[in-house]
Amino acid sequence: IRGITLLNSKFFHMNIYSSENVVVDKVTIKAPGDSPNTDGIHIGDSTNVTISGTTIGTGDDCISIGPGSKAIRVHGVRCGPGHGISVGSLGRYKDEKDVEDVKVTDCTLVGTSNGLRIKSYEDSKSSPKASKFLYEGVTMDNVSYPIIIDQKYCPNNICVKSGASKVAVSDVVFKNIHGTSNTPEAITLNCANNLPCQGVQLVNVDIKYNRSNNKTMSVCRNAAGKSIGVAKELACL
Ligand SMILES: *[C@@H]1O[C@H](CO)[C@@H](O)[C@H](O)[C@H]1NC(C)=O
Ligand SMILES: *[C@@H]1O[C@H](CO)[C@@H](O)[C@H](O)[C@H]1NC(C)=O
Ligand SMILES: *[C@@H]1O[C@H](CO)[C@@H](O)[C@H](O)[C@H]1NC(C)=O
Ligand SMILES: *[C@@H]1O[C@H](CO)[C@@H](O)[C@H](O)[C@H]1NC(C)=O
Repeated sequence: IRGITLLNSKFFHMNIYSSENVVVDKVTIKAPGDSPNTDGIHIGDSTNVTISGTTIGTGDDCISIGPGSKAIRVHGVRCGPGHGISVGSLGRYKDEKDVEDVKVTDCTLVGTSNGLRIKSYEDSKSSPKASKFLYEGVTMDNVSYPIIIDQKYCPNNICVKSGASKVAVSDVVFKNIHGTSNTPEAITLNCANNLPCQGVQLVNVDIKYNRSNNKTMSVCRNAAGKSIGVAKELACL
């Protein structure tokens, strides 16, 4: 799929479902920043999908990577406005399949509410595994929550608030992530007590809060891994 523009869809602009070996290149997707559920590109139950050289600005996720996605490559994507580049939500429905091997490289997020996010429902109905993620060379420009793993996602309080998770998250590398955030909370790792996130790495992550003193912070729970080349206030691993 190359060189087309998708404008003001009423729901997802593109849905890559149950597919293999798909390339999306030089596509433009546009919808107002306040239009609900207008995800740019949704991927589900698909293997070997590449999205490159693409500009997406909508009212929901620029790219959402759902259950059953494997070998997903995203590079050279500019995202904003919108909710960022997300994996999930996972665990909402029964029998969801794993998400595995996702690489997001050389992307820019501008004015989005989230940046790079992995989210799964608290008290989920299935237990897909989410593993092998590499986020490398991503620039944040005024992003509210640049890096988030949330195992307790529960929009509109539709979940039983048990504090537990069934969706295991492991091997997540954030490398060379730079720029500015629009809140002080540059890194949020909200993992569950019963199923901590494993193998999370923060490597050369440098995000400034674009107000007065530039100080950002990380808020991390139940995450194991390491930080390399990260300022003290962000190095929570
Ligand atoms: C992935 O998809 C691309 C584009 O269709 C194709 O050229 C490539 O061979 C596929 N890779 C694998 C491992 O199937
Ligand atoms: C940053 O983002 C916020 C909220 O998304 C917006 O209100 C503000 O105007 C943006 N600031 C800049 C400098 O773009
Ligand atoms: C910080 O925000 C101001 C506007 O509020 C903008 O002019 C400036 O470019 C921003 N700086 C960075 C480093 O994003
Ligand atoms: C904040 O960060 C901006 C952009 O990196 C830099 O130009 C500015 O000098 C910094 N301000 C302070 C007080 O460190």
